Amino acid sequence: SSVVIYAPLCLSDSHRALSVTKSNGVPCRGKVLTLDNMNPNVRRVEYAVRGAIVQRAGQIEKELKEGVKKPFTEVIKANIGDAHAMGQKPISFLRQVLALCSYPELLEDNKFPEDAKHRARRILEACGGHSIGAYSASQGIECVRQDVARYIEKRDGGIPSNPDNIYLSTGASDAIVTMLKLLVCGEGRDRTGVMISIPQYPLYSAALADLGAVQISYYLDEDKCWSLDVAELKRAVDAARQHCNPRVLCIINPGNPTGQVQSRQCIEDVIRFAKEEHLFLMADEVYQDNVYAEGCKFHSFKKVLFEMGPAYSSTVEMASFHSTSKCYMGECGFRGGYMEVINMDPEVKAQLTKLVSVRLCPPVPGQALLDLVVNPPQPDEPSYNTFMKERTAVLAALAEKARLTEQIFNEVPGVTCNPVQGAMYTFPRIALPQKAIDKAKEEGQVPDMFYCMRLLEEEGICLVPGSGFGQREGTFHFRMTILPPTEKLKIVLQKISDFHVRFTQEFS
Ligand SMILES: Cc1ncc(COP(=O)(O)O)c(C=O)c1O
Repeated sequence: SSVVIYAPLCLSDSHRALSVTKSNGVPCRGKVLTLDNMNPNVRRVEYAVRGAIVQRAGQIEKELKEGVKKPFTEVIKANIGDAHAMGQKPISFLRQVLALCSYPELLEDNKFPEDAKHRARRILEACGGHSIGAYSASQGIECVRQDVARYIEKRDGGIPSNPDNIYLSTGASDAIVTMLKLLVCGEGRDRTGVMISIPQYPLYSAALADLGAVQISYYLDEDKCWSLDVAELKRAVDAARQHCNPRVLCIINPGNPTGQVQSRQCIEDVIRFAKEEHLFLMADEVYQDNVYAEGCKFHSFKKVLFEMGPAYSSTVEMASFHSTSKCYMGECGFRGGYMEVINMDPEVKAQLTKLVSVRLCPPVPGQALLDLVVNPPQPDEPSYNTFMKERTAVLAALAEKARLTEQIFNEVPGVTCNPVQGAMYTFPRIALPQKAIDKAKEEGQVPDMFYCMRLLEEEGICLVPGSGFGQREGTFHFRMTILPPTEKLKIVLQKISDFHVRFTQEFS
C-alpha cells in the first residue's frame, strides 16, 4: 500500500503533470488541482467586462505610475457600470443612515437629520444585538423585506406584493445565479436550456457555463433600436428544442449593454410567449429608474403580468431582480439587492430558502442600504428636498450624457449608434476595414478586441469589445458606459471618434 505525502517543494516544471519522481525518498505526485482536472465548467466561464482588456488597463495604470511615457496621462475605465468609480457622489441621505448604522454613537450628533436617525434606529432595532455586524435571517431582515414589498406595490399601482416572496441578495448577481441554480437540471437532450438575449450581460452566459446549462441565444434587433421580437424568441426556442429542454427566459429591461427600454406591448407579448412555451421568466430590472428617452417608460414585468388577468397572473412563474448598484444610487460596493418570486411552487420555495440559508445572509449594510432605496425620504421629512435634488441631478445628468453619446457617435463615419433609451451604456456598431480584420486574425485576436486594445494603447480609454456580449456574425461593436462626468465624457467621445477615423484610415 502507498502513502501519499504532500511535498510542494518537489513539483515538476509542468505543474499539470502527475509526477512520480522521488526526491529524498518522498514520493511527489504534483498538484492535486490542475487546469486539466479542475471543474471544466469553471474553465469555460468567460466574463469580458473584467477580461483581458481590463487587465491590460491595470498594467498601463501601473506603468504610468512608474513614469512610463504614454500619449495620455490617465486610463479612463469606461468598461464597467460602476458610477462611484467614475466620480459620482453618493446620495447624502443613504450615507448618513449607513454611517449612523455603522457607528451608532453618531445618533447623538446633531449634524444628522432626524429622519436619518429614525431610519437608522429602525434598522438597528431589526438587527441581531442592534448591530449591522450581526448575521441576519437568510432571506433578509424582515422589516426590509416588508419595505421592499410596499415599494413594489406602490411602483406597480397597488398590485399586492408579499414579503414572503422577497429574498434579499448580495447584489442582483447573487440572486440571478441562485435562481438559475434552482432551474438547471437534466442530462443530454433533457438538459435545461436558458434563453438569453444577444447581446447580453455576460453574467448570464458565465452562470450558464458554470452550471453546465444550455445557452439559447435570441437576437435583439439592432435596426429597430435593439428591440425584442417574439418571432425571434419562437425561432430560438424551436431550434433549441432539438437539443435541450428550454425552461427559462431571461429578459434585461432596460437593457445592458444595448440600452433599450421595452414597450408595454412587447412585455405583454413576452409574457404570453412564456406562458405558451411553458417557460420560467427571469426579469432583470436593475435599471428601472434609468429611463431617459422621450416616450419611453419603465413597465415592470410583474405589473404587466397582473394587468393581463388571472389566466396569466396566477400561472406564469417569474422572478424579478433589483439592485442598489444602479439607478441614481450607484452603490455597487454595498452589494444590496432583492428578488421577488411569483407563482413559485411552495415546495421549491422551501428549497430556495434552504439554498440561501447555506450562505447565511446577504451583507447587512447592503440590506440597510436597500431599505433606504425602497423607502426614501417622504415630502414631510427633513431630508426630502436634498434627497430629491441629488437624485434628480444624477438622473438628469445621465439623460444628458445618453443624448450626447448618441449624437456624437452618429457624427462619426463608420459608427452607428442607437439611442441610449435607458440603463448606462451605449453599444455602437463599428465598421472595421477588411485589412484590420485580417491583421487581428494574424495576431490571434477577434477584430473588436484588436480595435479596443489599440484604443487603449493609443488613447488610454478602456472599453469592452462587442464580442464579450455576443453580436451577429460579421458585425462589430463596443460597449462604453455613459458614466464619466459630462465634461470628461465629451473628451472621451471625441477621442474615440478621432481614433476611429485614424484606425479606419490606417487599415484602408
Ligand atoms: C443587467 C444587469 N444585471 C445584474 C447586474 C449585477 O449587478 P449587482 O450584482 O451589482 O447588483 C448588472 C451589473 O452591471 C447588470 O447590468
